[in-house]
Amino acid sequence: MDKFVITGGNPLKGNVQVSGAKNAALAIMPATLLNSGENILYNTPEVNDVYTMTKLLNNLGVESEFSDFVLKLNTSNITSQTAPYEHVKKMRASVYVLGPLLSRFGYAKVSLPGGCAWGPRPINLHLEGMKKLGAEIELDEGYIIAKAKKLHGTRIHFDVSSVGATGNVLMAATLAKGTTVISNAAVEPEITLLAEYLIKMGAKINGLNTSVLEIEGVDELRSENVTNIPDRIEAGTLLIAAAMTYGKITLENVEPKHIDAVLGKLEDSGVKLIVQDKSIEVSFENGNFIKPVDVQTSIYPGFPTDMQAQWTAYMCLAEGTSMVTDTIYLDRFKHVPELNRLGADIETRENSVIIKGVKKLKGAKVMSTDLRASASLVLAGLAAHGTTEVLRIYHLDRGYQRIEEKLINLGAQIERVAGAEF
Ligand code: EPU
Repeated sequence: MDKFVITGGNPLKGNVQVSGAKNAALAIMPATLLNSGENILYNTPEVNDVYTMTKLLNNLGVESEFSDFVLKLNTSNITSQTAPYEHVKKMRASVYVLGPLLSRFGYAKVSLPGGCAWGPRPINLHLEGMKKLGAEIELDEGYIIAKAKKLHGTRIHFDVSSVGATGNVLMAATLAKGTTVISNAAVEPEITLLAEYLIKMGAKINGLNTSVLEIEGVDELRSENVTNIPDRIEAGTLLIAAAMTYGKITLENVEPKHIDAVLGKLEDSGVKLIVQDKSIEVSFENGNFIKPVDVQTSIYPGFPTDMQAQWTAYMCLAEGTSMVTDTIYLDRFKHVPELNRLGADIETRENSVIIKGVKKLKGAKVMSTDLRASASLVLAGLAAHGTTEVLRIYHLDRGYQRIEEKLINLGAQIERVAGAEF
């Protein structure tokens, strides 16, 4: 298991390219199961979750080729409709194959995802959606078995806005008979890209970028190519890395409008931003310090839950006390005790943390527990005095493309040590 050894204190400086969005790739890859032919996905990030999804698709009979961020997926010879536990347990997004397989082949057998590092992450909305589309759903020996001769259009209202359930039901509805209306649909940019891709394939979808999607089913979809959007969470993480080290960096290949909430909060914290069409420069003007800024996560375009841990790390060095509340995942605070090991002063109260800013963080050994928690520890390590060892960074490799190379190019001192202790 690899670890990072970080010598903190270097202000980050320079330019950095944002990679393609992990969570968009994880939605558009299974969408190719809806057609038969070769699909080319440009700007695909080289992260482990993408490799896991590729292996799962290979297992279903999809042929793949992946180099230079171009992923080719040929869906002409699907030989299986089963997503085994070995794949699904590694990555919950595997459940995205349910809708496309069921809709195209009338059958899907997908392992139930099980627990998650930071608490419950149910998939009831995915299953209720499939049932309303006419599927028979059975749970057997840890598997969801979904069957339907032909899905049919329906009205689905989600009580909770869910990225995954919206994506799954949207994909399934494209090949259903008749019209499906999804209300309280997720409006995250990853869902909009998925809908745009499905439309390119020949799907009939109205209401993009709104919380009501209307899908008129078609008989078949054709293979198509798509270019992924930039990763808004990687972008936000890098901006905080620069701010936390009092550096000055420029993000390139970024979509600023996807991270307006983060940019607004960053400005409140005292940074200077120069935002252009596809780039963002971040810096602190001389003499300015990190101001405490409260944050509450919410669905898009709110402040993303996937930036909560990184913001918490940032606020550890603010001049005063702040409060960060997660309204999406009420238990997503595994990073808090680890940040406290680095000298932070954070107290957890239900789904909030109260962060009393400290003058400095001090290097120590800390443990990654999930993807964004790991990112927050790397940020803290970059700003801390002395050496920080971040153990179990395989979590980070799931979703950040060669993050240490990007950070080293910006002047960070960070080394990957292979085969390290637990
Ligand atoms: N929910 C239900 N029932 C469901 C599905 C969701 O109650 O059937 C609830 C969840 O418990 C949560 C809320 O709905 O409280 C939102 O969850 P959502 O379904 O939107 O999350 P997801 O689709 O499982 C995606 C991202 C996550 C990100 C969330 C929220 C992917 C592959 N994953 O997960 O990304 O945190 O949306 O924005 O797109 C990450 O990248 O680190 C990550 C965890």
